[in-house]
Amino acid sequence: MKYNNKKLFIEKIDLNKIAIKFKTPSYCYSHSKLKENIFKFKKSFKSFNPLICFAVKSNTNVNIIREIKKFGLGADVVSIGELMLALKAGIKPNKIVFSGVGKTSLEISYAIEKKILLINAESLSEIKEINRIAKSKKKIVSVGIRLNPNTDAKTLKQISTGKKENKFGVNTNTFHKIVDYCKNSNNINLKCLSVHIGSQILDYKPYEKMLKAVSQILNKTNHKFEFIDLGGGMGIKYSGENKKLNYKKYNTAILKFLRKHKVKIIFEPGRSIIGDTGTLISKVIYIKDSGSKKFIILDAAMNDLMRPALYGAFHKTLPVTKSKKISKKTYEFVGPICESTDRFVTLKNFQVLKEKDLIAICDVGAYGMSLSSNYNLRPKPIELLIKGSKIKVIRKRQKHKDII
Ligand code: LLP
Repeated sequence: MKYNNKKLFIEKIDLNKIAIKFKTPSYCYSHSKLKENIFKFKKSFKSFNPLICFAVKSNTNVNIIREIKKFGLGADVVSIGELMLALKAGIKPNKIVFSGVGKTSLEISYAIEKKILLINAESLSEIKEINRIAKSKKKIVSVGIRLNPNTDAKTLKQISTGKKENKFGVNTNTFHKIVDYCKNSNNINLKCLSVHIGSQILDYKPYEKMLKAVSQILNKTNHKFEFIDLGGGMGIKYSGENKKLNYKKYNTAILKFLRKHKVKIIFEPGRSIIGDTGTLISKVIYIKDSGSKKFIILDAAMNDLMRPALYGAFHKTLPVTKSKKISKKTYEFVGPICESTDRFVTLKNFQVLKEKDLIAICDVGAYGMSLSSNYNLRPKPIELLIKGSKIKVIRKRQKHKDII
């Protein structure tokens, strides 16, 4: 994204033009940024050629998944819906892993029928259920066990998953019990150990600790694992204050791990692939002066982009047309929803805005549209994919008749 003659562009498209043609709020994704992210990710870990399974939960647009598939990525899914979507996008079953703490019998059964690469189980009960279903179908199923390595990811509490108080994965005792259980089962082929300690991780050290925990447990078992699934979680730079994750150091730690353990590595990145490709364009409906600050009331709201309301997440917010006049008052960008948490960001020294002006909320490609809802009976926004000077509608704007 860059300014050209004071107008904000994604690739060769002026965002003002998008707002006129497609209205607001609109989600726009940059194809070239997506390509760049995938190439960079692959390059960071090219020495051991991992299987990269895109975490579909971060963006569930079938056209986006199709584009990602073209670059050779697989999928990490967490529900039958996401599994259906990944298959519809053309991802081969042998590149799909299924994570999640609460897979139902129906979901397990469907995954077995589709012959996906791995069902990553998160409890002994789930393993037993997979075994029961596999037996009834007279099939042998490839599974993984998700370890809870009790590692602090040093990220937001709400998106940490690898500490013992979190519901995810199993502790070392249960892990060994499951390994024994699988040994005695004719219908389960235990191939993988998986971990995922959290999301938006910017420090490589928690990954180092996680690898240590995995290494320790591998040393204690005589089971031969074919895959180690390290999950995703690689963070992005939402603000100038975020430091960049040191991929080089993470890669070095994995190489060290691989010298001791001959396994194939799987990754499940979501945000690092799609996060900074997306922008939400929104229009100022009203400006309300409250004395100490001005409320900039937008036509986008927490139902369109939930992250600020849910996690206090920061998203860079830019004017779509730049001017030099700076406001003396602080601006609080809010949506029209009847919740006080329906606010995006509070900014000082923003340029003077007027009603009907356009703003761009940045880095919303991951957990933006996929977390959206119809709260206040608001139709979901349109999604557009920009490639050079071409714009493709990749999901239509919902209509009231679709939701009433
Ligand atoms: N694998 C598993 C098992 C996961 O649970 C997740 C994310 C990922 C991979 C992908 O993580 P990523 O590379 O995108 O960090 N809604 C929150 C993020 C929740 C992440 C949930 N799990 C947010 O908006 O920040």
